[in-house]
Amino acid sequence: MKKNIISLIIFIAFFISAKNIFAQKSNLLYKELHRPQIHFSPKAHWMNDPNGMVFSNGVYHLFFQYYPGATVWGPMHWGHATSKDLIHWKEQSIALYPDSLGYVFSGSVVTDKNNTSGFGKKGTVPLVAIFTHHNMAGEVAKRNDFQNQSIAYSNDEGKTWKKYEGNPVLKNPGIADFRDPKVIWYEPQKKWIMTLATKDRITFYSSADLKTWIKESEFGAQLGAHGGVWECPDLFTLNDNGKQVWALTVSLNPGAPNTGSGTQYFLGNFNGKTFTTAQTNTKWIDYGPDDYAGVTWSNTGSRKIFLGWMSNWMYATQVPTINWRSAMTLPRTLKLKHEGNDIFIASAPVAELLANSSKPIVLNNISIKNNFDLSAITKNISFPCRINVSVVKQDFSIKISNKTGEEILIGFDKKTNHYFIDRTISGNTNFNAAFAAKHTAPRISTSNTINISLIIDAASAELFADDGLTNMTEIFFPSKPYNQIHLQSAENIIITKLEYVRLKSIH
Ligand code: FRU
Repeated sequence: MKKNIISLIIFIAFFISAKNIFAQKSNLLYKELHRPQIHFSPKAHWMNDPNGMVFSNGVYHLFFQYYPGATVWGPMHWGHATSKDLIHWKEQSIALYPDSLGYVFSGSVVTDKNNTSGFGKKGTVPLVAIFTHHNMAGEVAKRNDFQNQSIAYSNDEGKTWKKYEGNPVLKNPGIADFRDPKVIWYEPQKKWIMTLATKDRITFYSSADLKTWIKESEFGAQLGAHGGVWECPDLFTLNDNGKQVWALTVSLNPGAPNTGSGTQYFLGNFNGKTFTTAQTNTKWIDYGPDDYAGVTWSNTGSRKIFLGWMSNWMYATQVPTINWRSAMTLPRTLKLKHEGNDIFIASAPVAELLANSSKPIVLNNISIKNNFDLSAITKNISFPCRINVSVVKQDFSIKISNKTGEEILIGFDKKTNHYFIDRTISGNTNFNAAFAAKHTAPRISTSNTINISLIIDAASAELFADDGLTNMTEIFFPSKPYNQIHLQSAENIIITKLEYVRLKSIH
């Protein structure tokens, strides 16, 4: 008996110390130099696109393209994380594994409230994942039918998943790039609509039960940007003063405004069969190089929340992180905004972000002669933080830097009417020749006042200019953390308002 008690005590002590060591190790993982402090990144290993984002019973689910075997792309799984506030994430066990039909590529998740699929048991509302099965052998053999759409379901709120035995549910008609299904419920005709990226266009399919799909129409072969293959589309409505406008977002790689990967959008109408638009100009969700494959959460009603992968296929597998590779952008609320005779999607970080912030430091009417050091006002410059600036339209920049002379410059150039982010001397840039660069984005607003909001994390900057009309996302890798903020202008200018808010780490 005594021996048993001693063994039990030894076992418990061992269990507690192993748990502590594991917790410490996983804590340390989030202290790596470039580890985002307010953005989701998996504990370890490779991540790309967000997948299957769905809101269910008070929980936001974020699945993602994940390779648990290395920090480079490999056989794709769906990783899984959950959050109650879109900011603090808890990583869950892997949701979907590759199988004999192939790797599990990008896709979406729906809440099948009417149990149209029949997967719900005893009144549960099943979560149904619709994804691309990518058959590597088929790709290597240069076949043109190696990407097919499949489904899986969960009756326990995404904890465990079962793949449907009738997979694939949508077979490839002979198009090599045939992937990334985003499915929505189209209430007027009580049917599911799948928006699928099919090489250089979007193909819409419909279904009554998520298992049988028929082709409805194609869109976009002659419209928008076509510098690369179309991927990861989304179709949703946005409110325009009480009227519904349909938005179709399409990622493409390469062919983005600052080269590499980017996401364009079209505004128009969808009638259950075809998407139409009067739009002739190309519009981008984000002009920076590091916001790709973004889509919106399902089942969030009229609130549309968008999130992208904060990287670019040009260098994603080479960025100098150690245990992990890639983070997501902040979740962003999308709204329509009129400018002149045109209409745009404007983005803003979700309001939940600021729930965990310090009291803002607000300065009014500061005059800048060449250079203004924010540390003159607050000794405590630290990142992550949000900096808001209001200024009459003129040249200015914000320099984020460290004492070794590494910096990123974010600003506005009046002559060209462009915003810019310059990461040429931002730190470690030599892992890819295209990385060290100055990127620009056209100003869409015609207002005489510039309002920008800038969110800086350990290795990223997200610029929301003019209430989110022009946005830029950029990553960077300083050799020491940035700890200085300067406002700069070649002329003497007055910053009408400057607000600095420290954001607390989510780890
Ligand atoms: C976009 C993408 C998708 C594909 C996935 C594979 O970044 O190429 O089209 O499903 O990544 O990981």
